[in-house]
Amino acid sequence: MSENKQNLTTSWGAPVGDNQNSMTAGDRGPTLIQDVYLLEKLAHFNRERIPERVVHAKGAGAHGVFEVTNDMSQYTKAKVFNGVGKSTDMFIRFSTVAGELGSSDTVRDPRGFAVKFYTEEGNYDLVGNNTPVFFIRDAIKFPDFIHTQKRDPQTHLKNPTAVWDFWSLSPESLHQVTILMSDRGIPATLRHMHGFGSHTFKWVNEEGKTSWVKYHFKTDQGVKNLDVKVAEELAGSNPDYHTEDLFNAIDKGDFPSWTLYVQIMPEEDANTYRFDPFDVTKVWSQKDYPLIEVGKMTLNRNPENYFAEVEQATFSPGTFVPGIEPSPDKMLQGRLFAYADAHRYRVGANHNALPINRPKTEAKNYFRDGAMRFDGNGGSSVYYEPNSFDGPTEKAEAKTTPFNVTGQAAQTSYDHHDHYTQAGDLYRLLSEEERSRLVANIVGAMKPVAKEEIKLRQIQHFYKADPEYGTKVAEGLGLPVPQELVK
Ligand code: HEM
Repeated sequence: MSENKQNLTTSWGAPVGDNQNSMTAGDRGPTLIQDVYLLEKLAHFNRERIPERVVHAKGAGAHGVFEVTNDMSQYTKAKVFNGVGKSTDMFIRFSTVAGELGSSDTVRDPRGFAVKFYTEEGNYDLVGNNTPVFFIRDAIKFPDFIHTQKRDPQTHLKNPTAVWDFWSLSPESLHQVTILMSDRGIPATLRHMHGFGSHTFKWVNEEGKTSWVKYHFKTDQGVKNLDVKVAEELAGSNPDYHTEDLFNAIDKGDFPSWTLYVQIMPEEDANTYRFDPFDVTKVWSQKDYPLIEVGKMTLNRNPENYFAEVEQATFSPGTFVPGIEPSPDKMLQGRLFAYADAHRYRVGANHNALPINRPKTEAKNYFRDGAMRFDGNGGSSVYYEPNSFDGPTEKAEAKTTPFNVTGQAAQTSYDHHDHYTQAGDLYRLLSEEERSRLVANIVGAMKPVAKEEIKLRQIQHFYKADPEYGTKVAEGLGLPVPQELVK
């Protein structure tokens, strides 16, 4: 035994006498219940798993740094975006959406792009995707949508009929479906894709002036996508292909980076813009609101431990710092509840105190107790407010900026029902080869749909986006374009 060799201990710190042989009554046994180390070892093993994320279960993470290259103080007082050269530690988790924790990386699916900035004013999370839009635009539809993406309750198989039934009956999905079925639906690596905040957020500056903002992370590696055949082969031969690529790139010092841009819309424009700027199925024209550079994000360190840092990481679109606030986007509003609720269930009431989630600033409040409270629990300090013992107090400047609300309380839909223009614009932007790959991907995905009525309904949506788009999908499926559309 070398001098430096450490003693194996129980979880209560006592030396373990034998880690290879359990204690038996006689050489043959039976095994004795008094071997408490054996009991502890087996019992702990049984509890190794926490629930996987209900969506975005498969993921890879990395640490990095965000550096401001263009001061944003005229738009937001958030310190993370103020002062050229300002550097903030961050952590990112990339993911697929529908698959389970062990599923393949190279499937056709949006990719999660969740960033945690450990700012000097507390954590700021931006929990986006690699697409600028989403399939639906009201949180009330999310559980139904995700049911169609997950497994059938009887067969436990993926169910293309459910997928296309839901999409064809939710035409607001067409824009995102077109992106998903295009080459961008399977990125070459996690390093070769853009990231987006997707929603509209509110920025507020020191003077209290409000702007609407959309975030775009542009990959400095360039966009690259996987050929469908290669992706299918990789799904079998190396299901962790993207996870491995990211780890290896960082490990050998080839640090991937993204340049962050924002689109800024003056507050008043939201009332007159040609569609609702809070509708997450739409992009804002970059001619109307050009990209403004903010800074650069570089990933430069791999996690030391996957479970501690990636599986236990908790990102929430409601984790804001002063100067950044939600917009009325109905998806975002629902997400403000969903994530923290998921974290309390999946990781526990004190998930924010774990090293990966803890802010670099000290969290000082009157929250106490709860399962697994391991951080001192506020010690003997005052545990209620108001108090006469110099406990932490609120800071008026951090109050949410007041805003006007008008109209009736009602369950209304977005007033803009043009689901087709932006999907069609995207189709028309593609080269001929890109269009034929898009159509081939759609035809392949729709072929197994069990009901013809679903296929015909979806063909109508493609046709309304662009007659060529609809006609080609119809031809590929051997179905007619509905005659009332062909005028
Ligand atoms: C993960 C709900 C829409 C991006 C999750 C999780 C839930 C959830 C419950 C698991 C959280 C956890 O266990 O830690 C919802 C609901 C939505 C919605 C209710 C709509 C109302 C979106 C949209 C985006 C998005 C629009 C992107 C623009 C993500 C990402 C993750 C995630 C990136 C993974 C975060 C991580 O890496 O830990 N979502 N989601 N979600 N969602 Fe959503």
